[in-house]
Amino acid sequence: MADLAKITSLCKRRGFIFQSSEIYGGLASVWDYGPLGAEMKNNIKKAWWESLVYGRDDIEGLDAAILMNSEVWRASGHVTSFADLLVDCKNCKKRFRSDQLKTAACPECGGELTQPRQFNLMFKTNVGSIEGKGTEIFLRPETAQGIFVNFQNVLVSSRKKLPFGIAQIGKAFRNEITTGNFTFRSREFEQMELEYFVYPKDAAKWYKYWLDERLKWYTDLGIKARNLRLREHDKKELAHYASSCHDIDYLFPFGWSELEGIANRGDFDLKQHASLSGKDLSFYDENKKNRIIPYVIEPSGGIDRAFLAFLIDAYREEEVRGEKRVVLGLSKRLAPIKVAVLPLLRNRPKVTDMAKKIYSGLRGDKRIVYDDTASIGRLYRRQDEVGTLYCITVDVDSLSDKKVTVRDRDTMKQDRIGVDKLKEYLEKKLR
Ligand code: GAP
Repeated sequence: MADLAKITSLCKRRGFIFQSSEIYGGLASVWDYGPLGAEMKNNIKKAWWESLVYGRDDIEGLDAAILMNSEVWRASGHVTSFADLLVDCKNCKKRFRSDQLKTAACPECGGELTQPRQFNLMFKTNVGSIEGKGTEIFLRPETAQGIFVNFQNVLVSSRKKLPFGIAQIGKAFRNEITTGNFTFRSREFEQMELEYFVYPKDAAKWYKYWLDERLKWYTDLGIKARNLRLREHDKKELAHYASSCHDIDYLFPFGWSELEGIANRGDFDLKQHASLSGKDLSFYDENKKNRIIPYVIEPSGGIDRAFLAFLIDAYREEEVRGEKRVVLGLSKRLAPIKVAVLPLLRNRPKVTDMAKKIYSGLRGDKRIVYDDTASIGRLYRRQDEVGTLYCITVDVDSLSDKKVTVRDRDTMKQDRIGVDKLKEYLEKKLR
């Protein structure tokens, strides 16, 4: 497994992740995804969406707004309960989460600490041009509430019956106090959340089901099972809305840490919203001829954390013919670049022209690149380091036999393939 410094350096050097507003000195714990990062992040979202919305008939998608009526956050409990207990050092003025302190004095300078006080993690902003209490709203700290307030809209428009789920991917914002460990705890991040509504009597069964399903999603996409574990929350750790919760933890270089939480939220959210909005958020059970408030099981993952875990897990260094080879062994679905077309001789126009023509013919529905800016050894190293699955090389013989060499990233095995068979060959390999 890679250490975090190697991953951070690779991310910057190869265009996966940059610091936000870097030319102005950055903004703490906010990150931008570069060309390869944006590609890979999209691949993660696509894999999640496909597994839940396309691969099943009991889940619908949603894309709710980030800005919501502030009543939503009063009903959800975030205005009163989404807070950390903080202490300040009276000497160096640094701020700490009191639950993470091991000593009674400041861990930085030994100074005296203030009494703990509540600090709400939601970012505030204003709607309209006049600042004031009535215009104050929040940037959502979780995407889930957009799902709860749309429960009836989705139920009625899609005519679903229990059990059914609503899946959503989107940005969330938290004014985190403890940050660090690269993108692990960011102030702006993306979540992939599923709210799966069930009959209350079936909640325990579905809870167990989603624990298994979500663990499998990560291993199917290449994370080694030995680097994943399930950890149950003890009672005092549970969020204000949850009656039970397990984390899927990944063994990051800085220790076991949460990738995704799977919670039984019971009927907390729908009941709260029904009560504060005065609207009916129940489900009519046609068998029993009565209305019930469903329970909800929530698998809630962070895309940025999944991204980091996929990168760390895929990174390997090996020795090939006395030289170090760095490879990102990302799964086929997640690798940002699927194919690179590389001319063996960059100063032979006939070879480069043929390579460019092959590149144009293959482009379209996946990321394919062309590179002739270095020697072939260097070009291979560049592609291995970012996880490119196949490298196609065009050489002098290609001009006469109309064949090219296709090199597999992991085995480094090379196949000689006719140009007319190339598309079909790659489609089969990438399936
Ligand atoms: N709706 C439930 C919810 O938001 P959470 O455990 O607070 O639960 C869910 O967050 C997931 O969102 C986490 O497992 C993590 O992957 C991601 N996440 C939460 N805070 C984050 C942060 N500051 N930076 C990056 N990802 C974060």
